[in-house]
Amino acid sequence: MCGISGIVDSEPIGTRLFTSIRNLEYRGYDSCGIATLHEGQINARKNTGGVDEVNSTEQLDQLPGTIGIAHTRWATHGGVTQENAHPHLSMRNEFAIAHNGIIANYQRLREQLIQQGFEFRSLTDSEVISNLLENAFYEEQDLEQALQSTLKKLEGTFGLVMISLHDPERIYAAKQESPLMVGLGEGTNYVGSDINAFLEHTRRAWVLEDGEYAVLDRERVIIRKFPSGKMVQKQVLQIEWDLETTKKGGYSHYMIKEIFDEPQTIRQVLKVPDEQIQKLAETLTGATQTYLIGVGTTFYVAQLGQYFFSILASRFFPVVSSDEFRAVGQVQPGNTVLAVSQSGETYDTKHALAMAKERGAQTAGIVNVMGSTIARMVDQVIMQGSGPEICVVSTKAALAQALILLRMALLAGGKNIPEKRRNALNQSLLDFPDLIQQVLNEKSGFVRNLANATSHVDHWLYLGCGAYYPVAMESALKMKEVTYCHAEGMPAGFLKHGTLSMVEPRVHSLLFVPPPEDAVLHGRTMVAMEEIRTRGGTVMGFYFEGDEVARPLLNHSVKLPPTDPVLAPVLQMIVAQLFAYYVALDLNRNIDKPRNLAKSVTVG
Ligand code: M6R
Repeated sequence: MCGISGIVDSEPIGTRLFTSIRNLEYRGYDSCGIATLHEGQINARKNTGGVDEVNSTEQLDQLPGTIGIAHTRWATHGGVTQENAHPHLSMRNEFAIAHNGIIANYQRLREQLIQQGFEFRSLTDSEVISNLLENAFYEEQDLEQALQSTLKKLEGTFGLVMISLHDPERIYAAKQESPLMVGLGEGTNYVGSDINAFLEHTRRAWVLEDGEYAVLDRERVIIRKFPSGKMVQKQVLQIEWDLETTKKGGYSHYMIKEIFDEPQTIRQVLKVPDEQIQKLAETLTGATQTYLIGVGTTFYVAQLGQYFFSILASRFFPVVSSDEFRAVGQVQPGNTVLAVSQSGETYDTKHALAMAKERGAQTAGIVNVMGSTIARMVDQVIMQGSGPEICVVSTKAALAQALILLRMALLAGGKNIPEKRRNALNQSLLDFPDLIQQVLNEKSGFVRNLANATSHVDHWLYLGCGAYYPVAMESALKMKEVTYCHAEGMPAGFLKHGTLSMVEPRVHSLLFVPPPEDAVLHGRTMVAMEEIRTRGGTVMGFYFEGDEVARPLLNHSVKLPPTDPVLAPVLQMIVAQLFAYYVALDLNRNIDKPRNLAKSVTVG
């Protein structure tokens, strides 16, 4: 987590540096700061709060100078205080660093530095880096050497940017496990945690690998390995993302804007070539064992994929939360592990994949962010092409992943699916963008009213059967993260095995009701609905047109237009996103940046 950036130019960079951390704010937003070099000294301003809030008191964007670094923080070591905010200056104010990651051995390093007479201002692990640099510089009298010997001492993970009085024309940056990219400009160069740090200035980037450091001046960037110092040649990554998709475009929040992007997201998914998806489908079905992994939303998306593979291809692939994969995944050569990840940087997912690789398995990914670690580390990758997703809460990216898995399962099922059925599902997929547009246009006002009527509810049960079960789980997560209300997802059939004791009028249940033609699942969902109603619980439901069984039993409901039964749960997932958004809006939550969260969870 945390977003870091740096710019070196011949023109003042205060505003651009400020914008860069505003664009990275989804990576962490409890405090932020900027340090620039100007007239022989390092000027640093930082404080607690979001980027705009800090700017209003500290005028970060007014810092003078043509070279500088910036940071937006998601706290790990040391509380949310001004002292603990980055950048951190060395004791003599000769070095400033901004760091993303965790320095595992910081306590030992800190004690050693204290014994050597260094003083510390913060409680962070990161501050040791600036003091190590200063110490090393006094011993080596060479900045690059000082960086190298400092990096040698660090254990843990880092994306790191540094400026120093001893080399006022250059930014130094290094990477070990935390993401870092260089943006290549004309007479100016950029560095940042991801593309969004510099997307408005350049679309040409170099992606740093673990064990590499970069030295940037206005005209050129040199990349070397550490500790060897060997120079590295890089391929330019051409960034194709549309800048407009990073803007709110008149919407009040990125979340609602990104939900309304969804018809376009689906069109992008439909453009992913069949051959690419088919190839991965063959890898999955040809493996001796295939695991699907993800965490948070992507875990539920992977679960949804599990149902698609079962329904369409008669294949069962275990799904494991990435953070638990080490504990249970018995991976061997011949197995395949498919990871789903929007950011491509999630620590738990990266480490699960690394284990799979170590043990000789094939790895694959469905990833959104170009040049991300997971996109580069796996043997096969499908880039989902959803464009930047800025809201911390995943909506359009999750939808794209679900539909790619659906297409993959459909291709894996191939000729075993009757032709008529295959054609019908393919046609529904082609119609899906327009259907979603229609639902967003016609139902969002209604969903908003429903949200206003129920925003006082503190406890929700989200229930679904079959593929509606992962949708219920994902929708409950969405509700929790953006509204802070308690929402518990579970299979509808699970309710009577314990949780039913919670049911009373104040506890609301949201049922994901399949279309009546999906008779078995529909019937099982009705049973759960009756169990709740009999005990005085309040029942809300998303149901499909023509369902005269469910409609009269629901206290609140959203009626949806028909679609293919395989797509029906996906349509309900979108409606649940809308519902969570409007409840959060009514509760005046920090929708795009919910408390305590960060979009890219790069720590374990
Ligand atoms: O970037 P990833 O898709 O790997 O992230 C995984 C989770 O951290 C992420 O889905 C998280 O649960 C989101 N906040 C969901 O809205």
